[in-house]
Amino acid sequence: MGSTSPFKEKPHSFRRKLLPWTLYACVPILLIRLYFYPLPLSLFPADQINSSTNSVVLNPSSSSASASSPTLKVEEKTHVEVACDYTNGEWVHDKKGPLYNGTNCGTVKVGRNCMSHGRPDVGYLNWRWRPKQCRLPRFEPNTFLQLMRNKNLAFVGDSLARNQLESLLCMLATASTPNLFYANGEENKFRKWHFPSHNINVSIYWSPFLVKGTERSDDKGYNTLYLDSVDERWASEMDHMDMVVLYAGHWYLLPAVYHYENSVLGCHYCPGLNHTEIGFFDVFGKAIKTTLKAITERRGPSGNQIGVIVTTFSPAHFEGEWDKFGACPKTKPYEEGEKQLEGMNADMRNTQVQEVDAAKEDAKRFANLRLEALDVTKLALMRPDGHPGPYMHPFPFANGVSERMQNDCVHWCLPGPIDTWNEILLDIMKRWEGQSRRER
Ligand SMILES: *[C@@H]1O[C@H](CO)[C@@H](O)[C@H](O)[C@H]1NC(C)=O
Ligand SMILES: *[C@@H]1O[C@H](CO)[C@@H](O)[C@H](O)[C@H]1NC(C)=O
Ligand SMILES: *[C@@H]1O[C@H](CO)[C@@H](O)[C@H](O)[C@H]1NC(C)=O
Ligand SMILES: *[C@@H]1O[C@H](CO)[C@@H](O)[C@H](O)[C@H]1NC(C)=O
Repeated sequence: MGSTSPFKEKPHSFRRKLLPWTLYACVPILLIRLYFYPLPLSLFPADQINSSTNSVVLNPSSSSASASSPTLKVEEKTHVEVACDYTNGEWVHDKKGPLYNGTNCGTVKVGRNCMSHGRPDVGYLNWRWRPKQCRLPRFEPNTFLQLMRNKNLAFVGDSLARNQLESLLCMLATASTPNLFYANGEENKFRKWHFPSHNINVSIYWSPFLVKGTERSDDKGYNTLYLDSVDERWASEMDHMDMVVLYAGHWYLLPAVYHYENSVLGCHYCPGLNHTEIGFFDVFGKAIKTTLKAITERRGPSGNQIGVIVTTFSPAHFEGEWDKFGACPKTKPYEEGEKQLEGMNADMRNTQVQEVDAAKEDAKRFANLRLEALDVTKLALMRPDGHPGPYMHPFPFANGVSERMQNDCVHWCLPGPIDTWNEILLDIMKRWEGQSRRER
């Protein structure tokens, strides 16, 4: 992953220089803005809830790689050095279906539970991502739990971070039951669970920018960001984290005023404020840089291991108007070649990957820091069928099709494609564990 990515950055950065961001980014931004604006409070925050590679085969008997395979040793060797490129692959039919039943996983946010909201088609559940270069094993909850034993895992970011966390909790809950032991903040934006079986803590921190900022409100229609200060709501607890998964992106598309080094750097979509429009790509890069730098500077010298994962931008799939039936009506993944990663999706993803690569380079002076981009943008792009759409609300068509109808084409159904993010996460963790073993 990372610098070995198949998505060449050149065309986009070239285009970025030639064209103002508006020309090619405005359509998705408008759609996402329309989607987020009408009820920003109910969509973003948490609400009431209770409750690699094939490289290193930790447990050969239960693993994908057959122990008797004569090529196993060779495969291990090559994969250990070179991480698999997960971005290059395709969605293939998988009869096995999902690992869990969203209806009885108590941690799923109501709006993501497509099955229990009456989504009639179930085809979207039966796909698995097949990378070209390697095999991505089905999620193994017990392996994950073993690797995290006595550790503290934190998810930090916006509602997509929460979406990924909930997918993980549902998959882990098939092997071990988590106890919610902390819930705080407006609409439970900050929560922690404990897995007594393995003494693991898993937490979620609401921080849609990762850096310091205030979210737009009724009297102030724009976000305010401080690009050179990390958000202490999560960063103040960084010392206790053994692994942190970061996700930010969609909130950067919204109107905002950006502060940097004690002055206003500019803004994005702030008519009437007399600030320079600077778009959000560079701003987003600065914010990721600040975030990763804070982790490196605070955790590097401590000597304690920390793994940092940056989940890359998750594309939305609005095809028509957000409030009309059929905003994301597809029921099948795109076929290979049917959809290219380009425009804003590619630029957001490339920004993240570049910043992770730079931070990796910087972190080389510390042996205890590992960083990786969880590069899901391409595989997510190929799944227009995986969103709740109108099923963000229960049984939306109980009274027929209404004139206006909200659609969620941003978040992912649970179970759904986002489960694959965590399969890759586990693969990265296995690779890290293998590296640690060799270093010991
Ligand atoms: C999921 O669980 C619910 C409640 O336990 C059950 O009614 C339903 O049939 C299950 N669905 C599947 C697909 O197993
Ligand atoms: C969740 O909490 C509600 C009340 O707040 C309760 O009725 C429901 O049974 C709880 N569900 C689970 C899975 O604990
Ligand atoms: C989990 O959190 C509890 C409460 O904050 C703490 O006592 C415990 O040490 C934590 N365990 C791990 C493995 O971080
Ligand atoms: C906008 O900013 C410029 C430069 O800071 C200043 O000269 C100008 O008077 C400002 N205009 C308004 C309407 O505030």
